[in-house]
Amino acid sequence: MANIEAKKMTFKVFRFNSESDVLPHYKNYEIEVQPGEVILDILNRIKWEHDGSFSYRRSCRHGICGSCAVKVNGKATLACKDRVSDLTEIFGDELVIEPQDKKRVIKDMVIDKKDFWKKYDAVQPYLNSVIDEAPTAENIVSIEDAEKIDEADYCIQCGNCYYSCPAVNVNEDYLGPAALAIAYRFNADIRDDGKRERLDTVNKIGPGIWDCVKCFECAEACPKELDPIGKITKLHQQVFEEGMAENNVAVRHAVGFKPSIVKHGLLDEGELVRYSEGNIGVLKHVPVAIKMLKKGKIIMPWNMPKSKNLDEIKKLVEISSTAKFKGIK
Ligand code: SF4
Ligand code: SF4
Ligand code: FES
Repeated sequence: MANIEAKKMTFKVFRFNSESDVLPHYKNYEIEVQPGEVILDILNRIKWEHDGSFSYRRSCRHGICGSCAVKVNGKATLACKDRVSDLTEIFGDELVIEPQDKKRVIKDMVIDKKDFWKKYDAVQPYLNSVIDEAPTAENIVSIEDAEKIDEADYCIQCGNCYYSCPAVNVNEDYLGPAALAIAYRFNADIRDDGKRERLDTVNKIGPGIWDCVKCFECAEACPKELDPIGKITKLHQQVFEEGMAENNVAVRHAVGFKPSIVKHGLLDEGELVRYSEGNIGVLKHVPVAIKMLKKGKIIMPWNMPKSKNLDEIKKLVEISSTAKFKGIK
């Protein structure tokens, strides 16, 4: 909701110049916020009215170029889209403005995004197709086929999802939600011929879809609401549909739910670990399993209850199972 009166506020702002500073610091700026102002207005006023050396990126001011992404109180924000009044409703009157990723700061809000672009580039974010150089008619895509792209082409490459992703934070090889969402976008395009090549890239352990921990942070962070985790799930489905799923720990973990549900109508956590990692692999989890057992967090396999609707559940599993993958039943 828009604020209807001007209001004096203090903004705590991250400052760092990688060429001259040893450590970053925060500086407070007192600003009279006008009704309807967005975070980009505050960044502009810090630069124009307080410190001309303050650095940040912006271009379109209309939520299109993706360059003005910053964090406010840890929340991924598009500075030209998010109103100060809406953010104070969530966080109160003390707003802390920081770059998307403090580890990659060049100056103030400006970060080095080459890791983001390199990974984006790795999935062929373009139509891979042999084109007719002298077409005699338009290459029409039907409404139904266009809908399969599922808004994945709304991405403005702001990087909010990527720099909010905990998997990216711990695994520098992980392609991240933006690259995976755009891989889906072109795989879903009926004019594209690069689907299997892209799936080959995203199906690898380390950089690929199996390293997503399904935390939904990317869906929260995306200013275009294009749901990157939803696209990652669709890439999982494409990997199965194309018969490209390998018999590895990540794939077994994904498919290991099925035998447990078919057997009990419930998820047997211990059996899922054994199914994924094998009889030897499971041994390394024994100390944790004992602790969980003592706290009643897991139960022994022979004590596993069965759902009273087991027959119905089995039928549902049968109907909904479309997965094809190598070497796993
Ligand atoms: S759901 Fe996956 S891709 Fe999205 S933020 Fe979490 S780990 Fe990253
Ligand atoms: S998927 Fe959303 S959050 Fe991620 S880069 Fe694209 S627009 Fe930004
Ligand atoms: S300035 Fe272009 S998206 Fe904000």
